[in-house]
Amino acid sequence: MNISLSTVEKIISIIKEQVGYDFSQYHKESIVRRLERVIEEYNLKHPDELLTKMTNNPVFTLNVIDIISITTTEWFRDPCTWKEFVKVIIPDLAKKEKFNIWHIACSTGQEAYSLYFLLDIFDLVDRANIIATDMNSNAIFRAREGVYYLYIEKDFFKNIYEISDYIGKDIFNTYYYIDEKESIFGVKKEYLNKIKFYKHNILTDPLPENSSFDVIFCRNLLIYLNTECQNLLIYKLYRILKEKCFLFLGYHETLLGPVSDLFDKVSYFYRKKEIK
Ligand SMILES: C[S@@+](CC[C@H](N)C(=O)[O-])C[C@H]1O[C@@H](n2cnc3c(N)ncnc32)[C@H](O)[C@@H]1O
Repeated sequence: MNISLSTVEKIISIIKEQVGYDFSQYHKESIVRRLERVIEEYNLKHPDELLTKMTNNPVFTLNVIDIISITTTEWFRDPCTWKEFVKVIIPDLAKKEKFNIWHIACSTGQEAYSLYFLLDIFDLVDRANIIATDMNSNAIFRAREGVYYLYIEKDFFKNIYEISDYIGKDIFNTYYYIDEKESIFGVKKEYLNKIKFYKHNILTDPLPENSSFDVIFCRNLLIYLNTECQNLLIYKLYRILKEKCFLFLGYHETLLGPVSDLFDKVSYFYRKKEIK
């Protein structure tokens, strides 16, 4: 079913009016693909039906937002980058008495727990203050629960074994339980509630108070935003990152143009330059 650009724009303005989220800066093609999914999922006959349903039912609009925000994630996503994290960033954190880490767009929590386990293995967890945020409230709810479906997490074992081999520690048996009967696995109870997960829209909500961070994860969000919005976001993150500290983007995300001058590229990471 074809969704016209004018319908997409109307949907974006309904969302802005009802919820305050501004999707006008996201790539339209990916929004269209997600809206097609909404139409299919709810058996709607025409995009106009979607417009009417959203106009009359703000709770339905929240479901649409959940579907528009693509929450695909993985444990130790792109393991090669996590190996470099161990080599480059862990030794840097080990020199600090206390440090702050922010996972922006953490989705259902896999990335934030991956980090927590590494810090635990390297005996750094007591020095860490970790927050993890996402604009999708369902994702945050699931992140707090720390329970996942085995059939969805196809790369789960592959990545866990790769990182376990690399650091010489059986991550799976230490941190997870598995329930084959229910086809789920989860983070062991004692490792829940260590990360502060909460709902936050990085484009529109105020930044955490007095915030300055030693590492900011912002992986696989920039790809959905237009260049202007990407740059504004990077400037925002630059301001709350401490000097010589790290911004960890997605494997396929690169800083281009003037914002790239603010950082040195160190392995897969962007390190904020010293201000002279
Ligand atoms: C593809 S997932 C990436 C998850 C994880 N960072 C990773 O790399 O595996 C993108 C996430 O960005 C979130 N997101 C999109 N726009 C956002 C915004 N303005 N503020 C906060 N989170 C946002 C979505 O809800 C989704 O969970």
